[in-house]
Amino acid sequence: MRAVVTGGAGFLGSHLCDRLLTEGWEVLALDNLITGDEANLAHLKGNAKFKFEPTDVNEPFRVEGKLEYVFHFASPASPPDYLKFPIETLKVGSIATMNTLELAKAKNAKFFLASTSECYGDPDVSPQCESYWGRVNPVGPRSVYDEAKRFAEATTMAYHRHHAVDTHIVRIFNTYGPRMRLNDGRALPNFVYQALSGQPITVYGDGKQTRSFCYVSDLIDGIYKLSQSDEHMPTNIGNPTELTIQEFAVRICSFFPNAPRIIYEPLPVDDPKQRRPDISKAKRLLGWEPKVSLEEGLKTTIAFFREQYAKSTVTR
Ligand SMILES: NC(=O)c1ccc[n+]([C@@H]2O[C@H](COP(=O)([O-])OP(=O)(O)OC[C@H]3O[C@@H](n4cnc5c(N)ncnc54)[C@H](O)[C@@H]3O)[C@@H](O)[C@H]2O)c1
Repeated sequence: MRAVVTGGAGFLGSHLCDRLLTEGWEVLALDNLITGDEANLAHLKGNAKFKFEPTDVNEPFRVEGKLEYVFHFASPASPPDYLKFPIETLKVGSIATMNTLELAKAKNAKFFLASTSECYGDPDVSPQCESYWGRVNPVGPRSVYDEAKRFAEATTMAYHRHHAVDTHIVRIFNTYGPRMRLNDGRALPNFVYQALSGQPITVYGDGKQTRSFCYVSDLIDGIYKLSQSDEHMPTNIGNPTELTIQEFAVRICSFFPNAPRIIYEPLPVDDPKQRRPDISKAKRLLGWEPKVSLEEGLKTTIAFFREQYAKSTVTR
């Protein structure tokens, strides 16, 4: 069994490559490294079942040989990344989704789309279940990501319905763990970077907006199970334990002996006020639910960030 993973040098893509290899697959990772890092794949060097090819999947590309699965994970994913690369983000959700679906169709392979809870926008229902259509501002700054993913979902369903491609869609909720970039601008790496560098922690708005954080091994387990299922409609995978950003900042501070000060800055445009997955579908269909507690996950992740920070200060 051989799979292509686009975005394979990214945070989630690299963990997915690991899982597929553990399950006995051959893996070809494609990535243009716009937000990824080859270091995420360094441990796979010399593995005969693994290959990395620098590729921009927004451009036409070819894959030689047989293929059983295409996992489309390429896309800038953190708000600062997609605001810095708006056109590339729109292209990877649209053109690259078509390119990768065409590849799956040509090879008679299955297709898996990494979609997002951002399809729900700033929701007026909580928790968010898959039947909720969302509340997205189609022309706000975040729309480059949200609408690209909504287009990607629509395209995936069209290839399923019109071309009978065996497709799967996961809506990923906030995930954290080792291999996140310390400077990727998401809440957790931001807080930890600020704490490590002796700066106050920045909370946007009044901190009452909620998020729920899933540890990466739980997410990848849900994704693998969904990829092996017969489900074609979008499925939420995330951790339903919800906390406010203020509570989250306080949790992070508790890992540092000299607790940093928390400061407040204005909320970015269209920042969702609540984010919590309804995972009853994944539970029922896949027998999946998250196992790693926030305390346990944060311990491992902060240890990873400390190492990254120490390396970066040595090379500075
Ligand atoms: N991490 C999360 O919490 C989260 C939440 C929801 C959805 N997702 C989705 O999961 C996927 C992976 O996210 P991540 O957190 O690992 O982000 P990431 O930025 O670490 O990884 C994305 C990877 O895609 C690559 N890429 C981007 N454009 C490309 C292109 N045109 N050609 C080839 N490679 C390209 C990047 O270089 C990077 O390695 C994304 O599709 C994202 O939208 C992630």
